[in-house]
Amino acid sequence: MKEEKKMIIKYFHKPVLTKKSVNNLLTDKNGIYIDATFGGGGHSSYMLKKLNINAKLIAIDQDKDAIKSNLIKDPRLHLFHNNFVNIKDILNKKIIGKISGILIDLGCSFFQLSNPKRGFSYKLHCILDMRMNQDLPYSAQNVVNESSKQKLYKIFHEYGDFKNAIKIADIIIKKRKDKKIITNFELMNLFLIKGNFKKRKRFFSRLFQSIRIEVNNEINILKYFLLKSYEILSSKGRIAVISYHSTEDRIIKHFFKNLSFKIINKKVFKPSKKEIENNSKSRSAKLRIAEKI
Ligand SMILES: C[S@@+](CC[C@H](N)C(=O)[O-])C[C@H]1O[C@@H](n2cnc3c(N)ncnc32)[C@H](O)[C@@H]1O
Repeated sequence: MKEEKKMIIKYFHKPVLTKKSVNNLLTDKNGIYIDATFGGGGHSSYMLKKLNINAKLIAIDQDKDAIKSNLIKDPRLHLFHNNFVNIKDILNKKIIGKISGILIDLGCSFFQLSNPKRGFSYKLHCILDMRMNQDLPYSAQNVVNESSKQKLYKIFHEYGDFKNAIKIADIIIKKRKDKKIITNFELMNLFLIKGNFKKRKRFFSRLFQSIRIEVNNEINILKYFLLKSYEILSSKGRIAVISYHSTEDRIIKHFFKNLSFKIINKKVFKPSKKEIENNSKSRSAKLRIAEKI
């Protein structure tokens, strides 16, 4: 308990590619901006530091813990507990089409991944959960215990890039006939991964990531939000997206190409060696920025 409290206060999340993303996003220091994934508030804080007194920052997170733990007292910040897919309902109608920039930093916060109560971890024993929004009824337990074989195959193949997705689905289906899979260790014990620690870690991080993407409907929501973001941006408004997964990055790349956007960085931005040393979670980050024409 003490341990967890320390973790919440001292280290909720280390923001990734902060300067690169924010400095390329803020083209009008008096503008209205959106941080669609507030998390630990690292990007929002840096945005507020760079923006003028008349600017406005609308920040969103679907996780109540993120909102409760990271409040920033600043009259320019308007923080919402919501899913960014509801962006058009969150915004006052008058500002639709007038947004100067949108930042999306996809995936999970460090807090979500490492707090056993949230059930994302493959390191600490926990009940499988993985809901970013704790109010939703569909959790990782529903995914592993109730999905059809076809659906499990799709989840592991598309979101985990597993070549043996069908075998993984078979193992889960066989086991759950005897007993419902409740905890992360029960799930992990189904798989005998031969090889070193690194190999095991890679397998389980992909397995858990793919279930998490399904639980939170991350791919469909991203696609929908990208379309909406085009409508709410002003002309010359910018969008910066940090992603951690190849499927997401592909979607973002195509979206920028297929709608009227000018690509700001032809070569995707990645964290420096130094940033990766300081924050190993930033390893797979890719940042793409585009401007509405
Ligand atoms: C990588 S963290 C963001 C970290 C943040 N940029 C910072 O500086 O601390 C991702 C956050 O986005 C939130 N999130 C993910 N998908 C979301 C969605 N569809 N709607 C709202 N929040 C979402 C998660 O709950 C998590 O807190």
